[in-house]
Amino acid sequence: MKNMNEIVLTGDRPTGRLHLGHFVGSIQNRIKLQNESSKSFYMVADIQGLTDNANNPQKVRDNVIEVALDNLACGVDPKKTIMFIQSEVPEIAELTVIFLNLVTLARLKRNPTVKNEIKQKGFNEDVPAGFLCYPISQAADILFCKSSLIPVGEDQLPVIEQVNEIVDTFNRYYGKVFNKVKHLVGDTPRLIGIDGNSKMGKSLNNGIYLSDSLKEITQKVMSMYTDPKHIHVEDPGNVEGNVVFSYLDIFDSNKKEIAELKEKYKKGGLGDVVIKKRLINVLEEIISPIRTKRLELEKNPELVMKILEDGTKKARIVAKETMAEVRKAIRINYF
Ligand code: TRP
Repeated sequence: MKNMNEIVLTGDRPTGRLHLGHFVGSIQNRIKLQNESSKSFYMVADIQGLTDNANNPQKVRDNVIEVALDNLACGVDPKKTIMFIQSEVPEIAELTVIFLNLVTLARLKRNPTVKNEIKQKGFNEDVPAGFLCYPISQAADILFCKSSLIPVGEDQLPVIEQVNEIVDTFNRYYGKVFNKVKHLVGDTPRLIGIDGNSKMGKSLNNGIYLSDSLKEITQKVMSMYTDPKHIHVEDPGNVEGNVVFSYLDIFDSNKKEIAELKEKYKKGGLGDVVIKKRLINVLEEIISPIRTKRLELEKNPELVMKILEDGTKKARIVAKETMAEVRKAIRINYF
């Protein structure tokens, strides 16, 4: 198998439940790769979650279990993937401090992902230093275990690029310790929000969650933007920019029927409710097994925490090995 030599690592910020955008952008790849790679890691990035929630630690704490549950319910398997909590691996923080010297402030401010998020969160110049530096701490997340393949959503690509710059600079200054990493984005690298916004986002309030009930899915799909000029069933409608068709293109496996429905919609004679009902069924088919498994796992939070604790122990062993190598390379291995 082509990824047999790769070490895979991904993670989520525990700042809210995960949605369909996460699923198609990264989670599907996580599940596939855990069977194909030599080793795979899944990290709950609580320290990164705190970079823009410093005054709300309870939110981060509460969502640690939520993102772990979402991943487990989707099929991330703790027998195949080492699942761990970022803050419990202090070597990651140590490595972050070392990497901080390898990146300029100007470079951090230019990172398009960070720039965008700063704007979205309304930080402007008052951005917390930790938030501005999160690509550096993400480099430490990725490199502490020498991972080589990183499944991420498309929005994270500039962060991965910056990680590779850190690899280059580190190796140039201290000798070769790390290898460059590759990213892997899902078949749908970016999912639009139910409001037609270019991205489904936790903080944009436009998501369909992997834990949503059928009722919630129904309400959300029914509220989706279609074509404002498509008022009567017999009116010709637009399929471009029509959120319902965009989702059907991604999630409905019967491409032939979707093509026919589009033709009919364009000609006139197909109502919004018909296509929305179809989408509700398609999404329910995907989400219902995830929801069922999640509800089962939710009954046993101790088990989920035990999975994270066991995974963290394994991650730390690797982290200590890498740190010993790093200290030696930088000649800060005194005793
Ligand atoms: N920044 C990622 C996100 O917001 C989460 C993350 C933290 C991550 N550390 C990582 C992703 C390491 C991949 C690898 O989704």
